[in-house]
Amino acid sequence: MSDYLLEMKGIVKQFDGVRALDGIDIRLRAGECAGLCGENGAGKSTLMKVLSGVYPHGTYDGEIIWDGKPLHAKTIRDTEKAGIVIIHQELMLVPELSVAENLFLGHELTLPGGRMDYAAMNRRAEALLAELNIRDVNVVLPVKQYGGGHQQLFEIARALNKNARLLILDEPSSSLTASEIRILLDIMRSLKAKGVTCVYISHKLDEVAAICDTVVVIRDGKHIATTPMAEMSVDRIIAQMVGREMNQLYPTRLHTPGDTIFEARNVTCYDADNPQRKRVDNISFTVRQGEIVGISGLVGAGRTELVSAIFGAYNGPYEAEVWLDGRRIDTGTPLKAIRAGLAMVPEDRKQHGIVPDLSVGQNITLSVLGEFARATRIDQEAELKAIQQEIASTRLKTASPYLPITGLSGGNQQKAVLSKMLLTRPRVLILDEPTRGVDVGAKYEIYQLMLDLASQGVAIIMVSSEMQEVLGVSDRVLVVAEGRLRGDFINDGLTQETVLAAALDV
Ligand SMILES: Nc1ncnc2c1ncn2[C@@H]1O[C@H](COP(=O)(O)OP(=O)(O)OP(=O)(O)O)[C@@H](O)[C@H]1O
Ligand SMILES: [Mg+2]
Repeated sequence: MSDYLLEMKGIVKQFDGVRALDGIDIRLRAGECAGLCGENGAGKSTLMKVLSGVYPHGTYDGEIIWDGKPLHAKTIRDTEKAGIVIIHQELMLVPELSVAENLFLGHELTLPGGRMDYAAMNRRAEALLAELNIRDVNVVLPVKQYGGGHQQLFEIARALNKNARLLILDEPSSSLTASEIRILLDIMRSLKAKGVTCVYISHKLDEVAAICDTVVVIRDGKHIATTPMAEMSVDRIIAQMVGREMNQLYPTRLHTPGDTIFEARNVTCYDADNPQRKRVDNISFTVRQGEIVGISGLVGAGRTELVSAIFGAYNGPYEAEVWLDGRRIDTGTPLKAIRAGLAMVPEDRKQHGIVPDLSVGQNITLSVLGEFARATRIDQEAELKAIQQEIASTRLKTASPYLPITGLSGGNQQKAVLSKMLLTRPRVLILDEPTRGVDVGAKYEIYQLMLDLASQGVAIIMVSSEMQEVLGVSDRVLVVAEGRLRGDFINDGLTQETVLAAALDV
């Protein structure tokens, strides 16, 4: 018998000419928790899709040995039967179905005679969530009632419901808050104690360092190294990922903000289902020309609601007055907001950012198609040029602008959404969690892009749950807690403690 529960040997996976995986070998011991790290587009998700049967046997080269025997999975069902369960990077829940129905999707409990046993599923769902310490959930409500963090936890609960021997988590924490991440890490520890083998993919390398036994680094579809975590540090993981030392995570801020150009006044958002409840309570703030304002706060504080209302994208009753250059502007819908000079990169790129049926290029020019419209036709040459410029300036990694956007790695989809908004040449750019799922090198590029735009005079509003990022790039930091503005700090030697204290002081 081999020492390993899993061996993947010489895995090669191509997509129309793109060699996403170029002969990868990895091995896992039973009970091991391995961190899988690499830059955006390195091949992490693809490798795990090969392993989990999303890409069936025969559509890749190489060999998978699972529990001593070759694994020839035709579908994801086959691998689930073998005990391999994957939680995908993009959520796979059905928004209209209840939490309980989602947890049992494809494994429904039935009554004799074949009808669904909703009562049993609801009970089991409640028990499962309680066991995972996920509180305040009504399992009969549709999943869409809950925010991204909760949905991610449901996805994890659903996977655990399948009794995995090997659990693969692809970017599970990117939409979680600090307290949700603690729940997740606790779940991981208890899985380890039960002997479940895990593959943990995350760009949050401190999490990898906290829970993984080994670190597997891949780059450009090739295996670089597998090292015991005890011998690694976050800096060394980064160096292996990018192939060089990176000693600066944030570019230097050189720009100086000018006069106030943007103002949001009296923004109040009411809960869509319970209009008595205010999710944002009368917030006003200003932004100067060429200023980067970070909005910090705990998840659920109302930050996304605040910026969505300003951009006309809040899906409930709200009030907001928006001013640009001293004039009140109409931002009642996203289209009006874009015409008035605003742009927003939303938090949830799958739901609000990309159009999955369109190509990379079509997604990028979506908001500015009018610019390429001539009397009777679309000026495709001009359009292609604009697309290529954007791809180059955000260093988006795609084999061609004509590929479907869904073929891009997660981080590169994020860059496409950013490009789409930059093409509208906004005066005010709103970014909601702009570096979610983005690797360290690409994060640096996005920060650099923000600083360049700021030097050109664009006013930037960034919502981020990553405190270090807020402190790393912002000129000023606003703190929101329980729907109210709790702090407005110039970022000059500002510390995490000060920001946290304001966020917690309710
Ligand atoms: N369905 C597909 N069609 C075409 N190309 C694809 C497809 N899926 C992945 N690729 C390409 O394969 C490469 C690896 O992508 P993959 O999604 O595995 O990266 P990743 O390491 O998971 O990145 P990220 O950190 O951004 O999620 C990328 O160049 C990507 O564009
Ligand atoms: Mg991925």
